Amino acid sequence: MRTKIAVLVSGGGTNLQALLDAEAAGSIPDGEIKLVLSNKADAFALERAKKAGVATAVITRKAAGSKEAFEQMIHQTLLDNQIEMIILAGFMCILSQSFTEKWPGRILNIHPSLIPAFCGEGFYGLKVHEEALKRGVKVTGATVHIVNEIPDGGPILLQKAVDILPDDTPEILQRRVMEQAEWILLPKAAELVAKQISEEK
Ligand code: GRF
Repeated sequence: MRTKIAVLVSGGGTNLQALLDAEAAGSIPDGEIKLVLSNKADAFALERAKKAGVATAVITRKAAGSKEAFEQMIHQTLLDNQIEMIILAGFMCILSQSFTEKWPGRILNIHPSLIPAFCGEGFYGLKVHEEALKRGVKVTGATVHIVNEIPDGGPILLQKAVDILPDDTPEILQRRVMEQAEWILLPKAAELVAKQISEEK
């Protein structure tokens, strides 16, 4: 039985697209993307899901009224859809310990640096690449890790290095890290964990 996966998104969804394309190509044989859930009603990632025929849900922090209610609504929606594994793909909310401890070893996140560099509180999106360029590192990359209560602090699953070039801007570097690392690592990690979960059943 394939592991039922939910992908949580907030933005453009290029990592979601990499997952959808990998599943369609048969590269995630032990997993099935059953739900795409966003905290932003206008996330383009939701269009990508609909185009791929995947169910979507929108749960906003505002509508929920509090962080606790927001996380409880997400948790219940995942249970209602028999979800067994969660992938954070450009999801911009930090999930509290009371949420992550309900899904031990079952939540993956893609971070656009080689953790432990350029990660933790406040390090997301373009800022990660701005800081790498400011520091003058010659190599960066992406990391897929298990999510726990520490932002970007869970066990590391996969990493891939990407060269920084002399004329890189944050935008150029972000794109290269996505193309050469994120979009390759996330489907691989998804299959690794989905297979492990399906073998536990
Ligand atoms: C990406 O840089 C990813 O590393 C980070 O969120 C950004 C947006 O990704 N987690 P996407 O295009 O919405 O997948």
